[in-house]
Amino acid sequence: MSQYLVTGGAGYVGGVVAAHLLEAGHQVVVLDDLSTGFRESVPAGATFVQGRVQDAAEVLDGSFDGVLHFAASSQVGESVVDPEKYWRNNVAGSLELLTAMRKTGVRRLVFSSTAAVYGEPETTPIVESAPTSPTNPYGASKLAVDHMITSEAKAHGLAAVSLRYFNVAGAYGRQGERHDPETHLIPLVFQAAQGRRPHISVFGEDYPTPDGTCVRDYIHVADLAEAHLLALDAAKPGEHLICNLGNGNGFSVREVIEAVRRVTGREIKAVVAERRPGDPAVLVASADRAREALGWRPRRADLDGIVADAWAFALSLADGADAAAAAAAPRHP
Ligand code: UFG
Repeated sequence: MSQYLVTGGAGYVGGVVAAHLLEAGHQVVVLDDLSTGFRESVPAGATFVQGRVQDAAEVLDGSFDGVLHFAASSQVGESVVDPEKYWRNNVAGSLELLTAMRKTGVRRLVFSSTAAVYGEPETTPIVESAPTSPTNPYGASKLAVDHMITSEAKAHGLAAVSLRYFNVAGAYGRQGERHDPETHLIPLVFQAAQGRRPHISVFGEDYPTPDGTCVRDYIHVADLAEAHLLALDAAKPGEHLICNLGNGNGFSVREVIEAVRRVTGREIKAVVAERRPGDPAVLVASADRAREALGWRPRRADLDGIVADAWAFALSLADGADAAAAAAAPRHP
């Protein structure tokens, strides 16, 4: 049994990873300032400390075996209009965390990085050696932290793994995607299915893709969580391993909307809108390195299954008839 600090463990991905660590028999301390996370997303059994990642030094001591670092600002659009927030929270916050880890001798780190570091890819599927050219401050801030971690590993022997997520989706029991404001496709299509918005806007249908809408690699949050536990085992002192995390399958915006129609059985109005600035046409991961270096195998790559799990979670948050339907909603194994 090991003890891990999970920064951002009240968020969507951090909370699901914390739950997986607990299920594997580890002790978990969650550090989260609740600026975007929810106290109820911290799994039972974890110790919760409300605080900023900048204050990690107040929590960390030599009894920890490692840190899983999720705490970050993560809205692409916001990062364009308020970049300093991203340099402060993501870059300066991570520097404080690394300093606290060095001072206390905690020498194992798994970092939540993103496909946004690649920007508009030249080739697809994207391999880790592809050029990094982020198109927004969010991606730039995550890339800066990746560089920071590489140098920390070389200079001071940190054992580190960065996992570059593609489009995280699905839910793990009562833990699911919940943002305010919501900008992600699947939860927004659910809002249209639930009558909470009149339609879903399809941001552009003139992309160079089979149906003209953007293609993304949707990965189930539980598959993602399993990769984090494998990454803790794979981390080697003095090395910084970087792995993309996706299924290697792309689905278009229209295919996602169709999947939500199938899973929910509801009518969903889709209206074509302008392209959203900064959206690459296709973002699909090569998952080869994660398979080879971590021994990771995604087990929930089926889009309908991913959507079904996310829908069950969306229903559990809803009121009235939708809440009643929650208990009966199908679950992906
Ligand atoms: N989309 C719509 N309508 C909407 C919302 C989204 O058509 O109302 C489209 C987007 O244009 C995009 C696709 O659905 O083509 C997926 O959009 P999301 O906002 O769900 O996800 P992104 O691919 O934009 O973002 C993901 C991660 C980010 C990361 C980014 C890398 O969520 O954290 O990939 O580019 F930065």
